[in-house]
Amino acid sequence: MPDPVAVQSMFGRIARRYDFANRLLSGGADVWWRNRLVAAVRKRAPRDVLDLATGSGDVALALARGLGREVAITGMDFCLPMLDEANKKLAIVGHYPLVQFKPGDGMNLPLEDAQFDAVTISFGLRNMADRNRSLSEMRRVLRPGGTLFVLEFSQPHRWFAPLYFFYLRRILPTLAGWATGDKGAYDYLCGSIEEYPGHDAMSAEILAAGFTSVTVRRMTFGIVALHQGLR
Ligand SMILES: C[S@@+](CC[C@H](N)C(=O)[O-])C[C@H]1O[C@@H](n2cnc3c(N)ncnc32)[C@H](O)[C@@H]1O
Repeated sequence: MPDPVAVQSMFGRIARRYDFANRLLSGGADVWWRNRLVAAVRKRAPRDVLDLATGSGDVALALARGLGREVAITGMDFCLPMLDEANKKLAIVGHYPLVQFKPGDGMNLPLEDAQFDAVTISFGLRNMADRNRSLSEMRRVLRPGGTLFVLEFSQPHRWFAPLYFFYLRRILPTLAGWATGDKGAYDYLCGSIEEYPGHDAMSAEILAAGFTSVTVRRMTFGIVALHQGLR
């Protein structure tokens, strides 16, 4: 499991180049994946949403645009330089009084029980030191009947795996080093993607954390999956 101090410091180092690196390394697919997440959340018509591991705030702000100004959105992350980037974006787009970014650790959320209709976590669960604990925390802050949305890397369809892992191991670290000036950070990220559970194992982890049912949508040859867990 990842070391939280190393994860926090790594995201702090790449925070200012994080968005650019995402677009480049995914060929723009990250925007499409997040839009699919927002569309799924919209179907649940939540009154309030927690976006955990919000990073530079792209999901929180896409939710704000997609769900409307009357929906309260809290973006939370334990890396302050990432939250600084999120707040800069919020200041630029303005006009979202119910969007706020707050510091907080996904292992021990500084939030009361049963506060949200929806919790989203996009490319964040993989970095949590203890996934079961983090999933249990997300369940705790959801109201009964609320939904957890986990957008995360997953394991690709078998035929696509050789090409994908060649890209991850041989091409992505070099591109990432150029884009962020921190190749080491992306060596860690590539390793964490390769070791991450496939969609069935992830569904089992969500159920093991106490969710009553789970559904999954695989995207882009299986490299990313969107799981929904019902509280
Ligand atoms: C890959 S970024 C994803 C950011 C954003 N959700 C996105 O889709 O672009 C992962 C984020 O998880 C955050 N993170 C990792 N462990 C965390 C923890 N224990 N508590 C809160 N945030 C955490 C990191 O600081 C980082 O901002």
